[in-house]
Amino acid sequence: MISVRELTKVYRQPARDVVALDNITLDIDDGEIHGIIGRSGAGKSTLVRCLTLLDRPTNGSVVVGSQNLTAVSDTELRNARRRIGMVFQHANLLSSRTVADNISLPLESGKKKKADRRAKAKELLDLVGLSGLEDTYPAQLSGGQRQRVGIARALAADPDVLLCDEPTSALDPATTDDILKLIRAVSDRLNLTVVVITHEMSVVKTLCDSVSLLDNGKILDFGPLSQVAANVNSDLSRALLPLPTHEAASADLVIEVVGSQDAVNIPIATKIAAEHSVTVDIAAANIETLGDARFAHYLLAIDSDTQINLTGIEATLVRNGYSIRTRAKEGVQA
Ligand SMILES: Nc1ncnc2c1ncn2[C@@H]1O[C@H](COP(=O)(O)OP(=O)(O)OP(=O)(O)O)[C@@H](O)[C@H]1O
Ligand SMILES: [Mg+2]
Repeated sequence: MISVRELTKVYRQPARDVVALDNITLDIDDGEIHGIIGRSGAGKSTLVRCLTLLDRPTNGSVVVGSQNLTAVSDTELRNARRRIGMVFQHANLLSSRTVADNISLPLESGKKKKADRRAKAKELLDLVGLSGLEDTYPAQLSGGQRQRVGIARALAADPDVLLCDEPTSALDPATTDDILKLIRAVSDRLNLTVVVITHEMSVVKTLCDSVSLLDNGKILDFGPLSQVAANVNSDLSRALLPLPTHEAASADLVIEVVGSQDAVNIPIATKIAAEHSVTVDIAAANIETLGDARFAHYLLAIDSDTQINLTGIEATLVRNGYSIRTRAKEGVQA
């Protein structure tokens, strides 16, 4: 369990102070994969540094497991950090060391014997799908393979938590997919809690159980993926279920809706047309699967020769499990 309370980080600058994190509160359950998505400058890397206390928060607390990292001594903090594995955009391997020696690097300060460290490196190489490469050097590996070694190194000290800062930003789409699958497999197998920092919604879609939207140091939206996606009024929903490029819908009434699970199977446009004597044009649509649930995002353009019953149409949508955002022309009465 990771529990962040009222976390604030202000960088004091001669010209003006920069509030990089502004009162962030966040809970991540054991074994959960949580995505933190945000634009450049949103505060993502600052958050990662504050989670491990590599950067001291100006205010607030970070609890990992049962330990309040903001309240422990330096020695305890050093030990606590060993329970947190870090994966970065670039694996940053030491070129003069073999793959096995890179992986066992985090163990060198401990009491483990050399043979044990090598056995651990071998076991982790099997886990990340690079069996047999222990004596190769980083320069002999592809970018994706290097990132696998980076993940293996992050797991060397048997952490409870894996923090990944843009783990796939430097990789091509196919390799990205492989690495995301690997992170998922490792999390499931070791019951690791994973925090993934990214600016790519595709990473959140393929990997995460839950997500936070970070903007300007604040969390604007957060929740389980299925929950945020199902709310058409959430910024994250629009990013998770984008509509394809479409003409601006001009109709008496335009309703944007998102439905999930059973709602997706209802022929909602036909139903509204039949129940309310209107014509319904689906101006744009996106149906896709996130996690194990199906979602439908529609832009419905509704016209009628007679008075439109807005309240009735909205009630039909809500009754059938759709979340709604409505734009009505003047003259359409609720
Ligand atoms: N050491 C620092 N001193 C002063 N300001 C900083 C420092 N580190 C970060 N900032 C500022 O804090 C804000 C957040 O920066 P941060 O690096 O966390 O963003 P980010 O979301 O990781 O962006 P990117 O996607 O580009 O990596 C920015 O306005 C940045 O200029
Ligand atoms: Mg960053």
